[in-house]
Amino acid sequence: MRVKLRNIRWEAEGINSYILEPLPGEKLPAFTAGAHIDLQLAPGLARSYSLVNDPAIHSYYEIAVHHTIDSRGGSRHIHEKWRVGEILEISEPKNNFPLEESASHTVLIGGGIGITPMLSMISRLEALGRSWELHYVAAVPERAAYVDRVENFPQAQIVFDGIPGGQRLDLRTICDAAPADAHLYCCGPSGMLDAFVAVNAARPKGHAHIEYFSADTEVAADGGYTLELTKSGKTIMVEEGETMLDALLGAGVDIGFACAEGVCGTCQVKVLEGIPDHRDHFLTDEEKAANTSIMVCCSGSKTPTLVLDI
Ligand code: FES
Repeated sequence: MRVKLRNIRWEAEGINSYILEPLPGEKLPAFTAGAHIDLQLAPGLARSYSLVNDPAIHSYYEIAVHHTIDSRGGSRHIHEKWRVGEILEISEPKNNFPLEESASHTVLIGGGIGITPMLSMISRLEALGRSWELHYVAAVPERAAYVDRVENFPQAQIVFDGIPGGQRLDLRTICDAAPADAHLYCCGPSGMLDAFVAVNAARPKGHAHIEYFSADTEVAADGGYTLELTKSGKTIMVEEGETMLDALLGAGVDIGFACAEGVCGTCQVKVLEGIPDHRDHFLTDEEKAANTSIMVCCSGSKTPTLVLDI
């Protein structure tokens, strides 16, 4: 779908927010707290960003983009090329990080730009009158976006771990203090997510939720296997040095993708035969063990042939 870029706002050092509005006569689909949209930035360049605004607002979408020095092109493209008034191509909202709205208590933990999905969740939890707490960690105040939106909530803790005498976020203490039936959410750098998963290992299944905004994914590019596509009838060899996604696109297979590093879920494909070499951060351990689907942007094959339902 197409939207118009209505406003760009500086939020913090290296972080801008962008307001996207519908074209005249059109409406934006509703979204739920924790949802994201995919942006098609250029051919072969797509990225996913959390929706920041209150889900009750239907007149615009707000996203925030952190321009990192080592950007693989997505955030640099947005910061350098986007101009107010231009028409952009986006997906409808998708939600891989949904809020359990009936939870007795909700713990939100955001690291850096990982604060973004927490903001729509806070709006929703406030609207529902639910019990929640937020722990937001950033390196320094200058690089912390949206502090003004959360600092007035007494249940929000904001920590700067990169300043002299700064605090560290004590994940274990925070998570251990949460009631047994609480739902906990974490979005931030992969090291933080790994620590969050470890400290919540004993919680009931489905109560500790994570969302990667970027990952240190080791993409499978060894090649040396064949893809058999049942719907299109194609047989494609994945060569050494290319990913499965490269091979599919090179063979003219129209496949959707966004993050290209196994975090957004856009490129998921059903596996009919063969054993994938899962490299993504999207599928659960159970889904990976079942070997019935694969994220083709980053994963490979452990068997000489993979049969895919595309
Ligand atoms: S494109 Fe995002 S998981 Fe593959």
